[in-house]
Amino acid sequence: MKDMVEMSSLEMEKQQIGSNISKGEVSKCVGNPTKAMAILLVCSMGSFLFSVLKDPSPDNVPWNSLYNFSLFNKDQAGQVPMDDNKRLLGGLLPQGMEKDSCLSRYQMALYRKRLQRKYPSSYLISRLRSYEATHKRCGPYTESYNRTLEYLKSGQYNSTSPTDCNYIVWISLSGLGNKMLTIASAFLYALLTNRVLLVDPGENIPDLFCEPFPEVSWLLPPDFPIIDKFDTFNLTSPDSYGNMLRHSVVSNSTVPPYVYLNLLHDLDDHDELFFCDQEQSLLHKVPWLILKSNNYFVPSLFLMQSFEEELNNLFPDEGSVFHFLGQYLFHPTNTVWGLITRFYEAYLARADEIIGIQVRIIGIVGKGPEPLKYVVDQIVGCARNENLLPEISEKKPIINPSKQHKTMKAVLITSLSAGYFETLRDMYWTHQTATGEIIEVYQPSHEENQHTENEMHNMKALAEINLLSLSDKLITSPWSTFGYVAQSLGGLRPWILVKSDNQTLTDPPCSRAASMDPCFHTPPNGNCREKNWVDKGKIVPHVQHCEDRSWGLKLVDRDNES
Ligand SMILES: *[C@@H]1O[C@H](CO)[C@@H](O)[C@H](O)[C@H]1NC(C)=O
Ligand SMILES: *[C@@H]1O[C@H](CO)[C@@H](O)[C@H](O)[C@H]1NC(C)=O
Ligand SMILES: *[C@@H]1O[C@H](CO)[C@@H](O)[C@H](O)[C@H]1NC(C)=O
Repeated sequence: MKDMVEMSSLEMEKQQIGSNISKGEVSKCVGNPTKAMAILLVCSMGSFLFSVLKDPSPDNVPWNSLYNFSLFNKDQAGQVPMDDNKRLLGGLLPQGMEKDSCLSRYQMALYRKRLQRKYPSSYLISRLRSYEATHKRCGPYTESYNRTLEYLKSGQYNSTSPTDCNYIVWISLSGLGNKMLTIASAFLYALLTNRVLLVDPGENIPDLFCEPFPEVSWLLPPDFPIIDKFDTFNLTSPDSYGNMLRHSVVSNSTVPPYVYLNLLHDLDDHDELFFCDQEQSLLHKVPWLILKSNNYFVPSLFLMQSFEEELNNLFPDEGSVFHFLGQYLFHPTNTVWGLITRFYEAYLARADEIIGIQVRIIGIVGKGPEPLKYVVDQIVGCARNENLLPEISEKKPIINPSKQHKTMKAVLITSLSAGYFETLRDMYWTHQTATGEIIEVYQPSHEENQHTENEMHNMKALAEINLLSLSDKLITSPWSTFGYVAQSLGGLRPWILVKSDNQTLTDPPCSRAASMDPCFHTPPNGNCREKNWVDKGKIVPHVQHCEDRSWGLKLVDRDNES
């Protein structure tokens, strides 16, 4: 009942925000409706300043503590003030978590301007709150955790006395983008099956992300009993669900204490039975699921009958699954947040529009520091065709530019090499634009190679993903999980460069994604225990093949208007 009351006040807040915006509150703040980002900051800054002035801090107030305004005050009617709701992403984030240890959690909303557009469903919000309660009860070193751990230690489990907490353990694997996609997939699976998600810290998870859940950690403790076995889990492992099914060593009456889920790109015809309703009912009884995946496997969960109703309630807009789960789970640590905000304030904050360009050429060997000519042509062609950037003019430069305000567009390039950046910057430096717009071109880093283990490399990569997500418009590379994460976090439907088979310019150079949700690169081929083949992209309207990968699957909104 209490939940219901809180929910309805949140609903009211949402409506308030919506109506204020539609009534043009935005233009009241700075008088230029096109500068949406600046507006959000300026409006918000107004209210911070107000609360800072009202309640002066004894120390000198550093600039960023302006953001540290009172997040959790309730007015007399017990309503959460509107700004708080905005900061909590419309109720997505839990209230009352400690602020200073993770500044990004409640500050990110200031930088993301699109958050007004989509709100999480009230059902998703209530499921997240109840997940948090379960996590608190079942997380590491709780009584329930210790009790369930005994089955792992002894290797014995009697399924006739069910556990009060079941778990899914995510094993750290692969590059940063893949990690974020698979953690989110595992978390959704945990929500759907009432499991608790525990995350293997690997080399750097705690350096990159804050704890997402209140009070109890999501990190798998280092003394976890079978942690030494993690490296041995693979396609051929006898502990894999696929092999257990193949050899019929698992049944309703013989349930093992743990099962390894091989949901890597190499999953075989037995591993992929994970995506079948019948096998899920058996898995449901296993206390510990240990997952290895490098894929965003969410779209295939939407093809399962057993989850259909729940998913429908959680995500009425199917294409925003990662948008919400990613924003809920992934809060950059203060070190990474510093990289993000310093770059943003120094280079992007003043721009009228930010165009993100994410270049990652996958599957080409021998790429040197030089940009690939066809990729540059694709980017320029895409930006021109889709009116993302102005053309350059061959006319003589204007010697005496008028003083009036010129539109300034910032181009933010992320790439392992510097060549694309240099080419575009030179293009707009040595020529004027046909429209007179000023184009600034920036690239935060160029690390030349992907170093999956290097700490600073990963921090910069996470900062770049988040900076890209702050763009107004985004061009991404095909097959890139880095791009998928940036687009979904930012609520952006990107233009994806068309994959070229022979390193020549494609026609068209890019195509608009049907939704912001990531692509599942290697969905299961089979049709569960049925022998017939069905086209998985044709079963329901909201699961379709990907723009950049014809055999991949992705979620799109059923009423596809965005
Ligand atoms: C799987 O792991 C086992 C044990 O570590 C190893 O012997 C085997 O070569 C691995 N198989 C594959 C396909 O990687
Ligand atoms: C196993 O149990 C589930 C319910 O928990 C039931 O639906 C299924 O038919 C059972 N399977 C067998 C082979 O008994
Ligand atoms: C490259 O591939 C495209 C499509 O497959 C084809 O139309 C084009 O002619 C090819 N170009 C060259 C130079 O081979």
